[in-house]
Amino acid sequence: MASTAITRIGTLITNNPSLGHGPLGQLHDAAVVIDGDRIAWIGTTSETPTTDSHHDAAGRAVIPGFVDSHSHLLFAGDRTEEFTARMSGRPYTAGGIRSTVTATRRASDQQLDANLAAHLTEMRRQGTTTVETKSGYGLTTEDEARALRVARAHTPETTYLGAHITAPEYAEDPDAYVALVTGPMLDACAPYARWIDVFCERGAFGADAARTILAAGRARGLAPRVHANQLGPGPGVQLAVEAGAVSADHCTHLTDADVTALADGDTVATLLPGCEFSTRAPYPDARRLITAGVTVALATDCNPGSSYTSSMPFCIAVAVREMGMTPEEALWSATAGGAAALARDDIGHLTPGARADLALLAAPSPVHLAYRPGVPLIEAVWQNGARVP
Ligand code: NIG
Ligand code: FE
Repeated sequence: MASTAITRIGTLITNNPSLGHGPLGQLHDAAVVIDGDRIAWIGTTSETPTTDSHHDAAGRAVIPGFVDSHSHLLFAGDRTEEFTARMSGRPYTAGGIRSTVTATRRASDQQLDANLAAHLTEMRRQGTTTVETKSGYGLTTEDEARALRVARAHTPETTYLGAHITAPEYAEDPDAYVALVTGPMLDACAPYARWIDVFCERGAFGADAARTILAAGRARGLAPRVHANQLGPGPGVQLAVEAGAVSADHCTHLTDADVTALADGDTVATLLPGCEFSTRAPYPDARRLITAGVTVALATDCNPGSSYTSSMPFCIAVAVREMGMTPEEALWSATAGGAAALARDDIGHLTPGARADLALLAAPSPVHLAYRPGVPLIEAVWQNGARVP
């Protein structure tokens, strides 16, 4: 297996406090050796072992690749008109999902695959090396299963979201749709999914349906995660903690009891700043969660309705500017936090033995990700040890 050394790294973020300073385990004038798909060695430039090839970072920063633990990339079409209307004052509602369902059902497998691949490429160019993505724009057994089949060829982090909204055909009989989602649709989707998710919100699924859906998924080996408290207060967050969900996502409208439940449980709070940005909603209070001791992740929620950004650097910048996070906390949440939200210990940190997923920044410090918003600062990316374009 070929080995590569990246040397003269001005600031290396390992996210491993035992390897360097502070919670991010920072090292200066550092070097990383990649062997095959793994990190083989970390130390100072002067001690770097001999390798097959070499990359000079010339004082720039290296960080773990971003872990985008929440996206919806199995879709066709876009919702430009809805966005334009929203920017003129129309509120965001989950109803817009239906127009993407119509477009997605019409698309061929090849079109869905190409659209997914294009978004994954876009994400990689922005430093993202792991992507979770969901079904949820098919809402028939066939359309949900094919979305997950397409997704599975690109990422192991696939989530069955048949419970995104009630399919339009079942508008008069939502219980029958829950029976489909927990029955034949689940059977068809389970082979291609790692996770099950439910949009627990007024206008989507209530607490009882959400519990039923998560329990059915768990019985088929799918681990739960929840879209919770996005559009208003509700039962989603506490239900996620009760169900042992690895992550409760959005967490925009939280009561003190929600924060306490998260702090007392093991569920990660995944915050999605692109969503509040694009829907003109109030931002979630990351500071409140961190102060309470909750593990916070940041993700894009990339989808054509509520958050059509694929950029983790953008999410970091917004989280720092608007959500009370320090640049260090936001970087941790976009890397190690995302790994926690996917229950992965092989990614999100740079430690010998970890997956060699990392990004070289065109900046001396990762603080520049927040300090220079909108500037393309990702200079090079390695994924599974290979330099990717
Ligand atoms: O996470 N909340 C539900 N689903 C997506 C939005 C989907 C859409 O508007 O198309 C979200 O924000
Ligand atoms: Fe989402």
